Amino acid sequence: MKKHVYLRTFGCQMNVRDSEVVAGLMKKAGFALTDDETKAGIVIFMTCSVRQHAEDKVWSEIGRISKPGRKNRGAGSVRPVIGLIGCMAQNYRERVFERAPSVDFVVGPADIDKIPGIVKKILEHRSVSKQACGLFDLKIWETDGLGRPEHIYHTGFYEEKGHAYAVISEGCSNFCTYCIVPYVRGPVRHRNAQDIIDEINKAVAGGITRFTLLGQNVNSYRSPDPLNGKPVDFVSLLKHVNRIEGVEEIGFITSHPRDTTPRLFEAMAEFDKVRKYLHLPVQSGSDRILRAMNRGYTRQEYLKLAREYRRIVKGGILTTDIIVGFPGETKEDFCLTRDIVRDTEFDAAYIFKYSPRPNTQAEMMGDDVPRSEKERRHKVILDLQRAISRAKKEALLNSESNL
Ligand code: 5AD
Ligand code: SF4
Repeated sequence: MKKHVYLRTFGCQMNVRDSEVVAGLMKKAGFALTDDETKAGIVIFMTCSVRQHAEDKVWSEIGRISKPGRKNRGAGSVRPVIGLIGCMAQNYRERVFERAPSVDFVVGPADIDKIPGIVKKILEHRSVSKQACGLFDLKIWETDGLGRPEHIYHTGFYEEKGHAYAVISEGCSNFCTYCIVPYVRGPVRHRNAQDIIDEINKAVAGGITRFTLLGQNVNSYRSPDPLNGKPVDFVSLLKHVNRIEGVEEIGFITSHPRDTTPRLFEAMAEFDKVRKYLHLPVQSGSDRILRAMNRGYTRQEYLKLAREYRRIVKGGILTTDIIVGFPGETKEDFCLTRDIVRDTEFDAAYIFKYSPRPNTQAEMMGDDVPRSEKERRHKVILDLQRAISRAKKEALLNSESNL
């Protein structure tokens, strides 16, 4: 009988896609997938390290499923094989086994192609050591990979029926001072444009019509052009995808203001299949904090970009990310963030309380905004954004009822 795999995903869309990749590879290797954790012989956590809170959730979930006496029909009398993969795996490496002794394997983002082989090895070891009354568990960790083989993106497995995420670049080389991503996902590596187009063509043949192109900073995309070998940037990639027959809608996340130009907005306005949706994280409205974050733009440059977007992409949606309580953020800095939210009128804003991350430059700056003050600032922006979103919704409903 096939062994069942239960895959639980924490974190961003990149992780959602990585989980699909792992699911596709496991299916290809002869495993079955299940949504019922208690039926699974193998439980895998795709994890996130972006904030402490995201990690805490995973540690507590592992504790829950590892409780002695917990029933898991899929693993028979023994506990399921447990894997911790993704960003936390890279952040903690083999130290995971000290903190969570029930974990059997730890695999970082650049090594996910190895997961089926690792699971098979552990299952084999279990069956052999059971016969020999073995006392020792086999623990495997893979966190030294430099890149992913292209084939992992071509198993054809997508969770949704009509929509697929397509990774265009892996990793990140921006080194925003608060962010752990460059350390856990490595430097930026762009997929070849022809490979991305091939993946999309195959997905279209399988009935998928809507696509979201994924990267930590899609606007820094570079690759040789499939037609003439000249360099293609993100706008030219969009143009290529826009031409693919059968593709009906194209979205993309995330855009970094440092690499975003009005040329992208012109392309969004011109290419009929591209969604008029831009996620453009501002993070802070204070130049002093933006500099300390190493964001590479000023408040004025961001505001100008937002204005250009609104002017060129008529009716376009604009969303953002904000961090409150970054080290050294004074009340004046915070007020500048509040004002940028009030003045830009985002359609949605995702607001985060600063969380110090290991090895980052900001970690060395201390964490001097008290928790209660971070919570207060978080609530101020949240309430403000809620009021803006509500007003926008009402305005839209009114304009529709006047039609
Ligand atoms: N603390 C709080 N929020 C963070 N983000 C990234 N790193 C941190 C951190 N250390 C937020 C940023 C980013 C989003 C995905 O998560 O706003 O855009
Ligand atoms: Fe995604 Fe960043 Fe979390 Fe990794 S750390 S899962 S890249 S949000």
